[in-house]
Amino acid sequence: MASLTIRKLDDTLKAYLRLRSARNGRSVEEEIRVILRDLAEGGPEPTETPAAGSVTVTAPVPRAASVASEPRITLIIGGGIAAYKALDLIRRLKERHIQVRCVLTRAAQQFVTPLAASALSHERVYTDLFDAESEFDAGHIRLARDCDLIVVAPATADLMAKMAQGHADDLATATLLAANRPILLAPAMNPLMWNNPATRRNVLQLRRDGVHTVGPNAGEMAEAGEAGIGRMAEPVEIAAAADRMLRPLLPRPLAGKRVLITAGPTHEAIDPVRYIANRSSGKQGFAIAAAARAAGAEVVLVTGPVELGDPQGISVMRVESARDMLHRVEAALPVDVAIFAAAVADWRVASEGSQKLKKTAAGMPPLQLVENPDILATISRLKEKRPPLVIGFAAETEHLIENAKAKFARKGCDWIVANDVSPATGVMGGDRNTVHLLSREGKEVTVDSWPVMTKEEVATALVSRIARAVGTAS
Ligand code: CTP
Repeated sequence: MASLTIRKLDDTLKAYLRLRSARNGRSVEEEIRVILRDLAEGGPEPTETPAAGSVTVTAPVPRAASVASEPRITLIIGGGIAAYKALDLIRRLKERHIQVRCVLTRAAQQFVTPLAASALSHERVYTDLFDAESEFDAGHIRLARDCDLIVVAPATADLMAKMAQGHADDLATATLLAANRPILLAPAMNPLMWNNPATRRNVLQLRRDGVHTVGPNAGEMAEAGEAGIGRMAEPVEIAAAADRMLRPLLPRPLAGKRVLITAGPTHEAIDPVRYIANRSSGKQGFAIAAAARAAGAEVVLVTGPVELGDPQGISVMRVESARDMLHRVEAALPVDVAIFAAAVADWRVASEGSQKLKKTAAGMPPLQLVENPDILATISRLKEKRPPLVIGFAAETEHLIENAKAKFARKGCDWIVANDVSPATGVMGGDRNTVHLLSREGKEVTVDSWPVMTKEEVATALVSRIARAVGTAS
């Protein structure tokens, strides 16, 4: 029997196999076996059908082979400072094998050039309602209809006001008014504009009209010193939301299951103005919550302080400290699956100052630390209400697998997702992650190493694995 060495395959095929196997929760070798078996049985082409029970939405096939079946988005880029992020959004959509055709408003062109959008989308970019070349056959109608979804990012206050009123005085608004496709808006504006009663009314009206939204998130504004809700959702979040709208007929292997997820850092107060924290962004936990929801689960997300908006359809509880997080987690039980992705602070100060600690002649005030409850270990060791599947994370900066194995033994959970969070990896706060899934086969610990993926892809692969363990998938 011939044997196959993965190192000898070309890079595109290798990347495809790694991603596909991770998404389907198999080793690469196992995945190749499934592909070959399907072929031998005259079953589905390996590039088209994810494995049974997989929540994978598309296989990452080389572009040329799949273009005809790729969904298409008309991306309307509005005129705001967040427009520069729309270029990254194009890239993120293309990564998901979605074709993108861009419309830039006149104001958007102050922030990004049609050339940049065209280079990234590999398509002609549209800017003008009265462009003889594209309007000879009513181009705005084509842009509105010859797509599966219209995404507006950034959706400015002005653009949303025009949409709510049905204006059509430029190519973007004419396209939106002529649309008979679903519309997804990624609002972005100053917090005062977002909270203005006029914007509130317009958003409400648009939602009543069936328009979907993603974000905005809380965070720093481009305007120095301003913060609040109004920041455009991150390109990866918008791409994931668009993907979910484009491919809603996914299998729902976690339907009827209740999944609990912790995310983000915790803040441990030192006094009324200071706290102990860490650099966790919450992105990985939020992505897992969204993927579990997409797989049909009822999801409870308990998160520490992060700058991410509530994902749609998920019950979100925002907490500050480790002790608050533990209370919320206990209150959310029973669940079928609990995933502890939060970077919980290990310590808090023994006695929190009721007033701001002052500098004194005696020097630094002594800070005595006490250990926080270990939420993962507490839930793993419950006699009653222990979730059937408890998954922890191991955030390490050295000896990744060795430390993760020790943590796995210590915590009493069923799986551990190990990731290297040392600064050089960019995992903390970044959009990508390289993880290793530790589980047990009898007494043996097995380590499944996945390739570098976006945090959404890691989430999808993990949820796919969970579905195989506890869901209706085989
Ligand atoms: N965790 C938890 N409660 C804590 C500390 C950690 O629930 N007080 C969970 C995390 O959510 C994660 C796992 O335990 O799922 C491991 O967290 P990590 O920060 O990697 O390790 P620690 O337990 O803090 O151990 P160490 O600081 O020694 O690495």
